[in-house]
Amino acid sequence: MKPHPLLGGLTPEEFLRDYWQKKPLLIRGAMKDVGPEIDRDWLFRLATRDDVESRLIEFRDPQWHLENGPFRPSRFKRLPESDWTVLVQTVNHHVPHIDRILWQFDFIPFARLDDLMISYAPPGGTVGPHFDSYDVFLLQVGGKKRWQISSQEDTRLVEGSPLKILQTFEAEQTFDLEPGDMLYLPPRYAHYGVAQEPGMTYSIGFRAPTAQEMASQFLVYLQDRVCVDGMYADPDLSYSTEPARIRDTMVKQVAGMLGKITWNDETVADFLGHYLTEPKAHVFYDPPEQALEFDEFVAQLATDALVLDPRSQILYTNDMLYCNGEVLDDEEQDVGYWQQFANVRRLEPSGFSETMLDVLYEGYLSGYWLFVPAVAQ
Ligand code: SIN
Ligand code: CO
Repeated sequence: MKPHPLLGGLTPEEFLRDYWQKKPLLIRGAMKDVGPEIDRDWLFRLATRDDVESRLIEFRDPQWHLENGPFRPSRFKRLPESDWTVLVQTVNHHVPHIDRILWQFDFIPFARLDDLMISYAPPGGTVGPHFDSYDVFLLQVGGKKRWQISSQEDTRLVEGSPLKILQTFEAEQTFDLEPGDMLYLPPRYAHYGVAQEPGMTYSIGFRAPTAQEMASQFLVYLQDRVCVDGMYADPDLSYSTEPARIRDTMVKQVAGMLGKITWNDETVADFLGHYLTEPKAHVFYDPPEQALEFDEFVAQLATDALVLDPRSQILYTNDMLYCNGEVLDDEEQDVGYWQQFANVRRLEPSGFSETMLDVLYEGYLSGYWLFVPAVAQ
């Protein structure tokens, strides 16, 4: 196996074996070309939108201040020269080249990838010493940020603060991140980044739902699918002087009925396919403005490639294919094409079946994917 370009000299196997969910890794010069620069004012404009999650964090001695977006544009004109950070979540949905950065982390299953958040900070800007409950890669883009990190087990938080700030932080290692440098941190690893020179941090975050969240979502999934035969019946009912009592015989009979609700690995796989591809709240797809007719679509598909819209996700199990919370119909002969589309998020022209052409057309009309020029053969 070759070293992965994002992992310095490490192969994905080495990274997964020695670092993933285990210990931090500093990768100097991990990404030399991050694509076109994101303009600071453009980022601030994104933070004014109500379909974008954003925060402004300021430290004004002795207190931390948190404001949640959407912001008025004038809010950014009233900021001091230092000591604040603007953070904008899921920028990958809005900028194709930022989206491409996220999917370069393909040594981790896409089911675990969450989003790419961008923060901008002038000197002194920081969100304070804290830990996150998920893995994160922190990529420095422009400027310079000093990261102090600690394996401390003391996770007590400052009380009464709007932010999760560690009461005590004992730095064990310090790194100055310059453009292109990246720091990987496992979940719950304490960190404290302070901007030294104005710049951005791209945070590639992972999703790790709690067992409680999965369980509740699974019950929602089951609710729509559960099908149990029979009806409550009590031909042997005996007389009682306590008509208000819920009798044990009733409890037993209902317990027997509920015991018929069962699931297996196949059910769980199907649940995961739906749940993991379900678009986040606020996500809407943009259908093409002037949609092609089916025949025109098929003709274009003979020469052009399709790419997944940044907001689209295709995942698959052994038997099924899921896209944006729905099952996609597929024929045996197309499975390889669909899996390729899911894995590289791009589909080159090929001999697709009628079924696949229909499904591709439906997805095109819904804005799930769009045409781009094909790679020259
Ligand atoms: C930052 O971008 O400065 C904060 C990101 C983090 O600590 O998770
Ligand atoms: Co953090």
